[in-house]
Amino acid sequence: MPQERELFIQVRDLHQRFGRQQVLRGVNLKVYRGETLCLLGGSGGGKSVLIKHLCGLMRPWKGSVLIEGEDITDLPERALGPVRRKVSMMFQGGALFDSLSVGQNIAFPLREAGLRDRKEIDLRVSRALEIVRMPGQEKKMPADLSGGMRKRVALARAVVEKPVCVLYDEPHAGLDPITSASIDHLIKDLQADHNITNIVITHELRSVFRIADRVAFMKEGVISWHGTAEELGASKDPEIVEFVRGTPSDRQASEQDAPCIDTSG
Ligand SMILES: Nc1ncnc2c1ncn2[C@@H]1O[C@H](COP(=O)(O)OP(=O)(O)O)[C@@H](O)[C@H]1O
Ligand SMILES: [Mg+2]
Repeated sequence: MPQERELFIQVRDLHQRFGRQQVLRGVNLKVYRGETLCLLGGSGGGKSVLIKHLCGLMRPWKGSVLIEGEDITDLPERALGPVRRKVSMMFQGGALFDSLSVGQNIAFPLREAGLRDRKEIDLRVSRALEIVRMPGQEKKMPADLSGGMRKRVALARAVVEKPVCVLYDEPHAGLDPITSASIDHLIKDLQADHNITNIVITHELRSVFRIADRVAFMKEGVISWHGTAEELGASKDPEIVEFVRGTPSDRQASEQDAPCIDTSG
């Protein structure tokens, strides 16, 4: 983690509701430049909703989000383009366009931003593929890729506009432990080589201990606990203990316990 901590994102008393359902009930969170923050919490607790506010994809019902000190809460839609280039999202499930090639998928945000120079686009796509360790694979179609490769392409698309911060919505979901570890390496490389700030929603505790500088735990629409990964492991807070202990006994049990045994053939 950086020595002097420069505030990058500040979430203040953020509230969000859908009809009568209160999803965020006053989230307060600080994210520092160049750190990796893991966001944990039960399913349906509002993690995805929270990070959508960090790049202006959702607007708060109440409260505010500041990026580098700028309040983005009431920015008009046209002013959100630059915010989304700065804070980029890798969506849950990857969300690739199946009818577009890998290269076209990665080029998509560049074209959306109005870039037309073919050479420049090709160069940026090729660099993004190098970053995710898939050089030269522009021509492949998403259907021909493994789950892990699709995630890499989604990550390449998230970094093609050279963001300052990347939001990852469950990048480990559906991946085997080895592929998860390789995604973790990419996340840490982005942090180390490009000083990218990472905010990662995950249920994979092994990944948390591998990548997190800090951890924030969401419960009932607020950040109920935050600390370092070390503090997470040592916490006596019953909710945290339950979460840390609970994970190996749920659906990820076989992966957690037997990382080297692949029975899928
Ligand atoms: N656009 C939406 N419209 C209505 N309800 C939503 C919307 N997005 C999320 N929700 C609801 O908000 C709650 C939190 O969702 P989410 O942030 O996706 O949880 P998670 O912590 O699993 O990511 C869920 O009950 C979900 O159904
Ligand atoms: Mg989610």
